[in-house]
This record gives sequence, structure tokens and C-alpha cells, in this order.
Amino acid sequence: MTAGIDDIAIYIPRLYIDASDFAKARGLDPEKLQKGLGVAQMAIVDTNQDPACLAANACLKIMQKNKLSPESIGRLYVSTESSFDESKAMNSYVIGMLEQVYGQGAFEHCGGVETKFACVSGSYALYDNTNWIRAGEAEGKYALVVVSDIAKYDMGSSGEMTQGAGAVVMLLNDKPRLLAFDPKVTSTSIKDEYDFYRPFGKETPIVHGQYSNLLYMIQVRKALEAYKKKVISSQLIKLEPGETILDHIDFLNMHLPYSNMGKKALAYLVRHEWRQLPRWKKIIQSIGIEEPIPKDPRGTIESVLGDQEFMAKDHAFTKLFTKTSEFQEVYEAKLSSSLIASKMIGNLYTASLYLGFRSSLEFEFQKGIDLAGKRVGFGSYGSGSSAMVFSGVIQPEYKEIVKDMNLESEIGERRKLTLNEYEELHENKLGPEESMVHSKHEFVLVDVKTDAEFRGERRYVFNA
Ligand code: CAA
Repeated sequence: MTAGIDDIAIYIPRLYIDASDFAKARGLDPEKLQKGLGVAQMAIVDTNQDPACLAANACLKIMQKNKLSPESIGRLYVSTESSFDESKAMNSYVIGMLEQVYGQGAFEHCGGVETKFACVSGSYALYDNTNWIRAGEAEGKYALVVVSDIAKYDMGSSGEMTQGAGAVVMLLNDKPRLLAFDPKVTSTSIKDEYDFYRPFGKETPIVHGQYSNLLYMIQVRKALEAYKKKVISSQLIKLEPGETILDHIDFLNMHLPYSNMGKKALAYLVRHEWRQLPRWKKIIQSIGIEEPIPKDPRGTIESVLGDQEFMAKDHAFTKLFTKTSEFQEVYEAKLSSSLIASKMIGNLYTASLYLGFRSSLEFEFQKGIDLAGKRVGFGSYGSGSSAMVFSGVIQPEYKEIVKDMNLESEIGERRKLTLNEYEELHENKLGPEESMVHSKHEFVLVDVKTDAEFRGERRYVFNA
């Protein structure tokens, strides 16, 4: 049975910091953010917003846009790594907020859980809900999968340059207008790692930044190897001599903790795919140096990081490789459109990959390309760590959705924060009643109880 994404909506907080202002305040070269990381603006949550509000606002948008009644929703999953309760699932808060609009008990039939595995959990939630539909369990109902996060790092840390916030919701069904997932090819990799994690009670993560970058690429590559075996053995894709699987994927979406990470990951995967092909010889000639080889051929993260000489040479080689016309062509055609939203909004953890997909649809369509029948690949990564690679095909009805996409109007009017305002927000110095903007037609947080008996209870209202 077909199953996939019928529609997609986003909710982005209305406050942001400008990368240049931020760089100047931290004594950094603004070019490092703009060009080095591909960060132009980072969305910041207001005092009266938490990841549950962001998720509920995204859900309300997609329901109102599609005139969906609560009865038509069979499942609502929330995937996040910004959880604020160790037991009560975030989807219960979201249901509570939606019922303020749709009536108490309107969603009581609707199952779902909160899923966690750093930035990859939304992909697992999508996969599980797609299979719920494929199994015939949905009985004609939709599933809502909402990925919502606040990417917040310690002040003064290197991660502070890669913050952001927002939610993306995907409406799944058995007659998707946007994208039908390819069956039986979804592939994963997993390894017990400490590249990025957030111990109980800590608001910000502990991060080993460069380690996490490399681990991301290694883990996604492993999942891609498994994906390749599945698509070839199932004959979903038939490879001619001299071809790679990436030649058959029209658009790629990578997990985007910052937009340039997508380009880095693409370069890594493409190099590994092309190395065995006749085209590689010409590329090596145009680069002018041989590809560096690590001393330890196993290519584990420990062996690669322990080989400093290789790391330096490989970094220089990658820079030259990404300048070749062959790589540039792949980058422009398959990835670049997915990076536009990330530059404007920043890191959304679980939601970054799907904001990238949303961005790619809008900006590829604007190029005048007919997207129907195009295969879209996804490279999802979550620290800790697991990767998932999967694909889908854009459906003939896609125009119904994509023609109206307009990122700027969906984000809405935003207010640029001064560095002082940003730091006050970052250090949680203001209460929910001291919000910076007054939002309309949105759910906001009004109270978090502190007395012993009800500690942690949250109250939300819908600002009509
Ligand atoms: N002008 C232009 N470019 C410049 C520059 C300048 N003045 N200065 C530096 N750059 C370039 C560098 O050459 C580098 O480019 P390459 O990646 O192509 O080499 C880029 O800017 C970044 O510079 P650094 O590598 O020196 O940056 P850093 O080490 O200070 O910090 C970071 C980068 C490690 C990503 C850090 O921001 C961080 O820790 N972020 C949080 C963790 C993270 O995002 N990890 C990503 C993978 S894990 C994951 O994705 C899970 C998750 O969501 C958290």
C-alpha cells in the first residue's frame, strides 16, 4: 500500500538574531558564520514559548489549511530532543492545546507518543507511522508527525553559532499528494556514542563538535551502504556500469545542524560513491593531487581522528573536491535548494531535515522544474548515535501543495533581537508574561507551576 507525506507545515518563532551581530559580539569573523557555516539568522523562542507550543502551532496550521477535523486524525506523534518532562509525553501537551480550539475530548481517540533519539527520532516516527498506514491500521485516517525543537547551546560555546528553533509537521496518509515513501528500503545504522548528549536536568547539551561532524558522516554512510544493497536487490533502482546510486536520486536532503553541514556530508558521500567509478580518474586529474589514504584502512572514527596527518590532508582535498565542476553540478542540482531555509532559521535539530525538504520543494519548483516522479533521498542523523537513509517519489498532485509555498510569508514578520535581549532570553531571565512580541492566533505558555505538589505543570492559552 502507498503511504507518505500529503502536506507539510512549519511554525517558526518570530524572534531572531542576526549572524553578523552575533559574530561581532563574540569576537568572531562574521564570515565564519555566513560563509564557513552558512548561518545568516537564528530563530529564537520568546519567553512564552516552549517546544510543545511550537509543535501545537504547526499542527493547528496544517489542520486549518486542510480543513481537517480531529476525527480524521488517528495518530499524533511528537519527536523532539528538547523534552521538558521525563514521563509525560509532549504529544499530550499538544493535544491539550489543540482541544482548546477543537473542544475538550476532540482528540481522545488519537494515539501517539513522544519519540527521542537526538535529531533522528522524527525519521523513526515517520517510518513507524508510514507502516501503520501501510498495514491498513489507519482505516482511512491521517497520522500527524511533528518534529519540534529548540537548539540551544551554552553561551560562549562553539555550538552557540548553530542555534535555532521551530517545528515542522507532516500529514501522512495512503494517498499522499506530496511524496510516497519507497517501501522496504529504509536503512539504519546505530552505535553507542557520546558526540552530543543532554544529561537529566541540563538545559543545554554537552557537545564534541568536530567529533559529531565526523560521526554524522560515517554513520550516514553506513546507512547508505545498507540502503544501496536494499534498492539494488529489490530492483527499485537498476545500476548501469559506471553509475552510482546517487545518480538515481534527484534531490537529497541531509540533516542540517547548520546549512554547510549538508554540503560537507554530500561531499563525503559523493567521494565515497565516485571513488570506484571511471569518472574519478578525471576528477583526480583536475584536482591535481591524489586522494589521501588513512594509515588504518578500517576507517573507524577512532582510527580517522587518531591520524592527524590524514585529517589535515583530507580536509584540504575535500576543499578542492568541492570546487570541481562535477561536484558543483551535483550540489546545485540535488542539494542547494534544501539549504535556503536553514540559513534563514538555523538549527531545528529533529526538524532540520524536514525544513530542508520543505525548502527544496519550494525552491526547485521556482526553478521551473517539473518535480513529479522525482526521487528524493533523505540522510537523517541523530547523535548518540543513529542514522537513517530512505527515499520517496514526488507524486503527480504535488503542485496542489507546492504552488502555494512561500517561506517568507509562512515564517511571518520577525523581530531582530539586540544582543542584550538575546542574552536575557538565553539565560531565562524573563517570565512568560514578559514576552517580546504579542502573537495572535497562536498557542503560548502562560505558567509553569513551582509549588511542590504541582511542580512542572504547564498552562497554555490560545491567543485568538
Ligand atoms: N571565513 C570563512 N570561513 C571560515 C572562517 C572565516 N573567517 N573561519 C572558519 N571558517 C570555516 C572553517 O574552515 C570551517 O569550514 P569547513 O567545515 O569547510 O572546514 C567552518 O567555517 C567552521 O569552522 P570550524 O570548523 O573551525 O568551527 P568550530 O570548530 O569553531 O565550530 C562546530 C563548528 C563544531 C559545528 C560547532 O559549531 C559545534 O560544535 N556545533 C554543535 C554541534 C553540531 O552542530 N554538530 C554537527 C553534527 S552532530 C548533529 O548534527 C546532531 C545535532 O544536531 C546536534
